[in-house]
Amino acid sequence: MISIHKPVQPAMSSKADMPRGAVNDKASLETAIRGNQMVPLWNTGAPIGGKLPRSRCTPSVWSYTDTKTAELVPAREAECRAVLFINPGRAESPYTLDTLLAAHQLILPGEKAICHRHSPFAVRFLIEGEQGYTAISGKKMYMYPGDLIITPVWNWHDHGNEGDKNVIWMDGLNIPLFRSMPIDFTEHYDEEFGRDTQESSPYPDQDAADMKFSWTQMQARLQVETGDYATIEYRLPGTGDSVSATIAANMERIEPGAVSVLRKETTNHIFQVHKGSGTTELVAPNGTRTTLAWGVGDNFCVPSWYEFTNCATDSGETVYLFYFTDKPMQEKLGLWRTA
Ligand SMILES: [Fe+2]
Repeated sequence: MISIHKPVQPAMSSKADMPRGAVNDKASLETAIRGNQMVPLWNTGAPIGGKLPRSRCTPSVWSYTDTKTAELVPAREAECRAVLFINPGRAESPYTLDTLLAAHQLILPGEKAICHRHSPFAVRFLIEGEQGYTAISGKKMYMYPGDLIITPVWNWHDHGNEGDKNVIWMDGLNIPLFRSMPIDFTEHYDEEFGRDTQESSPYPDQDAADMKFSWTQMQARLQVETGDYATIEYRLPGTGDSVSATIAANMERIEPGAVSVLRKETTNHIFQVHKGSGTTELVAPNGTRTTLAWGVGDNFCVPSWYEFTNCATDSGETVYLFYFTDKPMQEKLGLWRTA
């Protein structure tokens, strides 16, 4: 017989408040347990965990066309002119997948964001536009289509558009982690320093190798790889580590008519189509087959433990897919598995 303790002893009002002596059969025991904010494991119908990964997230595509219409948002809301991709299987923000959030952000010519810093880590992949920039700790780095900039944890950063055309990028973050582990912090520069933006000055690419990864260099590296398919992870200079402890970033090349390697991992994948078009063939953990179709600028995701291959359109151009994953975090926790 278990002993049930409550912090206070209110007047007796329900079966759960009965004195211990009244708990004399299984049913009254379960009622008493539930009345004290506990759950009896023996009748929940399932053990803790499951036989297979069982994300509620589903493979999904978000059309780039929808992002472009965000220019209808007025300037005073420019800071928030981002479209978050919400997984239809979970249908709640901020989940593109269980551990990762992706968004497209539109910056109109002349706009600037307020400088801030936060615990979530971010990757930023430039989709279109020129003279957009991200400044990290006062180092202003201009971005061109296909460039990747990472924002290390707790660095002051802001961004803007100094050109005369719209700039659109994809942001990738580990924000969903902080729903189950709410230990994150955010600060705005003006709260501490009384102005919106930290002084920044242009920072040359050759000095920014730990934060900026140019498309021209990545494309050159992928082109010297042999075969119809190649994938390269962006890694930090010096250590060779993934771009963060939680997120890895990669680019893959698929020649027209060719397919990627087949993957089935605990990893969550979010893809940003940089060039070309194609499909993704998937098999869910329960055996259900799905096909996603995508083109330039689209974003699509593959939840954990789906088997999948990416296929480039036969008559199209070479496909380049940027993608980010939660693999480093899973590996560090000893949880990563592949079939
Ligand atoms: Fe930020």
